[in-house]
Amino acid sequence: MQTPDEKKVFVKEKFSAISHKYDFLNSVLSFQIDRYWRWVTTRELKQFPDGAVLDLCAGTLPLSLELTRQAPERQVFAIDFCEDMLRAGVKTLPSDNRRERIFPVCGDGEKIPAHDESFWGITVAFGVRNLGNTQDGLEEMHRVLKPGGKLLILEFSRPINPIVKPVYNFYLNKVLPQIAGVISGDKEAYEYLASSIAAFYKPEELMDMMKKVGFRSVHCRPLTFGVVTVYIGIK
Ligand SMILES: C[S@@+](CC[C@H](N)C(=O)[O-])C[C@H]1O[C@@H](n2cnc3c(N)ncnc32)[C@H](O)[C@@H]1O
Repeated sequence: MQTPDEKKVFVKEKFSAISHKYDFLNSVLSFQIDRYWRWVTTRELKQFPDGAVLDLCAGTLPLSLELTRQAPERQVFAIDFCEDMLRAGVKTLPSDNRRERIFPVCGDGEKIPAHDESFWGITVAFGVRNLGNTQDGLEEMHRVLKPGGKLLILEFSRPINPIVKPVYNFYLNKVLPQIAGVISGDKEAYEYLASSIAAFYKPEELMDMMKKVGFRSVHCRPLTFGVVTVYIGIK
């Protein structure tokens, strides 16, 4: 059993090791459905088209890009503690004006390098599960959000449909680590993906934590048979 600090070291190393293949593998392994999930998530911020938004655990910036694509005045602060992921993302940014509106920052999601009440929106795609301490991260997200601002968490969940569940579990535990291991050269990173999804909070538990740190109107929306869930909360 890892301590929160050990988990952070492990997670940073794993993302660093796969950073050069992350986008490609994401697309292939999700059959490109991840684009739809990101679109649905970012659409939830359409009432804040020009305020500053924080994309936490931004990785290679796919959600930051979607956030700037959907709102031509929006600025996105993209924070991640793995410099290699951010660098891989910056390399592939298109050379239009979206590039000028994305500000990558290397920093820890559990000690967000931003003043209180800085952002109208926060997005965290596939990042909350990787934090050393989920509650600390949620408290920080609450701190840096403006009153009335919106938190959106996109995270893997576990399908409960009796037909989908065994197929999904077989794919996640057996097929995916093999393919991803060969392509990325790091099978352990994708075994961690499966085990971290299995160990993560149930939707009700995560929503209770969001409420506990002060979010209101907390609700969630499962997508693709509950393979992922979008969690929404207002400060
Ligand atoms: C699965 S990737 C998701 C990247 C991106 N959001 C996406 O949608 O593809 C998770 C990211 O969370 C980052 N991460 C994990 N723990 C973090 C922490 N404590 N602070 C900042 N970033 C963190 C990792 O470095 C990694 O880039």
